[in-house]
Amino acid sequence: MMDAFLFVGLPYLSLLLFVVGCIWRARREKFTLSARSSQFLEDRQLLFGSTPWHIGIGVVLLGHIMAGFLPKVWSSLLTVPGALLVVESVGVACSLLAIVGLSVLLVRRLTSGKVQAVTTPADLVVVGLLLAQVVVGLLSAVHYRYGAAWSTGTVVPYFWSLVKLEPDMTYVSGFPPLFKLHLTLAWVIILLVPFTRLIHLLALPLQYLWRSPILVLWNNARRRREAVVAVARAETRREFLKGAAGVAGAGGLLALGVMEKGVNYFRGPQPDPEVEAALLSKKLQRLQQTAEERELELERQRNEMILVARYSELTENKGKYFIDYAMAPALAFKDKDGLPLLISAKCTHLGCTVGSEVDSQGRILCPCHVSYFDLRTGRPNEGAPAKAPLRHIHWALVDSTGKVVARKAPGKPLEGTVDPATLAQCSVYIVKPRSNAA
Ligand code: FES
Repeated sequence: MMDAFLFVGLPYLSLLLFVVGCIWRARREKFTLSARSSQFLEDRQLLFGSTPWHIGIGVVLLGHIMAGFLPKVWSSLLTVPGALLVVESVGVACSLLAIVGLSVLLVRRLTSGKVQAVTTPADLVVVGLLLAQVVVGLLSAVHYRYGAAWSTGTVVPYFWSLVKLEPDMTYVSGFPPLFKLHLTLAWVIILLVPFTRLIHLLALPLQYLWRSPILVLWNNARRRREAVVAVARAETRREFLKGAAGVAGAGGLLALGVMEKGVNYFRGPQPDPEVEAALLSKKLQRLQQTAEERELELERQRNEMILVARYSELTENKGKYFIDYAMAPALAFKDKDGLPLLISAKCTHLGCTVGSEVDSQGRILCPCHVSYFDLRTGRPNEGAPAKAPLRHIHWALVDSTGKVVARKAPGKPLEGTVDPATLAQCSVYIVKPRSNAA
C-alpha cells in the first residue's frame, strides 16, 4: 500500500503539480522564474558554494538523464571495459563536490545576515532536501555499487512505465530502503519545483547567447565613451560565446558519433538473439549430422567386407547404388561375363553423382556437365569435362554359408571359382582397401 503511494501515486501527483504549477507560475509570476540572485549581498561564499554545487549536480544529473532517456546508448557505453568504473568514480566524485558546494550554500544562508534577510523557509527546505537527496544518492551508490548499470533494467523501465501510463512498481518495490528514499525524495523535489526557487531550472539564461546587449546611455561624456567600449566588448563576448556554443555542440555530436563507433568496435557485431539462436541450432544439427556420419564411417571401417547387394539384384543395364569405404556413392552392376562390376559413382570432374543407367555404348552419364564414363574401363569420353577415369572397386562373392567363393581387385585377375549354379544364392560385398586394412 505504502509502495503504491510512493511509487505510483506520488510520482503522478508530482508530475501533475510540476506541469500545472510551472504553467501557472510562468503565466502569473513570470518575473520570478529566476533564482533571485543574492550575489550582490554576498559573493565570496557564493562562489565557493554555487560553483562546485552546480558542476557536481550537473554532471550527476547528466548521467541520470542519459541513462533514463538513452538507455541503449548508456548500456552500450558501459560495456566498454573500464567504462563502468570510470562512470561510477566520476559520479561519486561529483556527488561529493555537490555536497561540499551545497553545504557551503546552506551555511551561507544560515550565517550571513544580509542573505538571511532574503532567505525564506522554502529556500531552507529546498537546500535541506537537495542536500539529503545527494547524500542518500551517494550512500546508495556506495552501498549498492554499479547502479549505473543495473538501473537501466530497473529504474529506467519503471520510469517509462509511468510515462506510458502503465505504472509497474514491481521494478522498484523490492529495492532496499535507502534507494526507495532516494526515489521518494526525487519525486518530492520535482513536486516542489514550481513553488520554490528550483523553478530557475527552467529559466536557464540561454537568451544571452543571441540577445543584443543592452546599451545604457550616460549623460556624462566620459561615461558615454566607456559605455560604448563596454558594449563593443560585450558584443564581442557574445559572438565568442555563440561560436563556442556552436563548436561545443558540433564537438558533442562528433564525440557521440565517435563514442558509438568505439562502443560498437569493442562490442563487435550484435546479431539478433533469434537469428543467433537459429544459427546455433543449425550449427548444432550439422555437427550432429557430421558426428553420425563419422560414426557410420568408423563402423564401416571396422568391417573387412561390407554387403552391397544380393547377386540376384544386379543387372547389366541399371546399377544399384551403395556407399563405399570412403563414404562416397558407388554403383554395382552385373558385367557381361556374369560377374559383379563395382565402380565409383563420384564424378572425377567436380564430384557429382553419376547416373545409374547404362546407355547403348556401355557408358554411364554424369549429368552435371555431361561426362560419359565407359563402364568397363571407367574412362571418360573424349572432350568430356572429366579427365580421370572412375575407379573400379574390389569385390567379393560370398555364398549362403558365408564362405568367400571369389573375389576380384581392380586390374587383378579373378581369385577363386564361380559356380553359375550357386551364383544366385551368393551376395556381393566390397572388400576393405589394402591401405585401410593395413
Ligand atoms: S561433375 Fe561430372 S561432369 Fe562435371
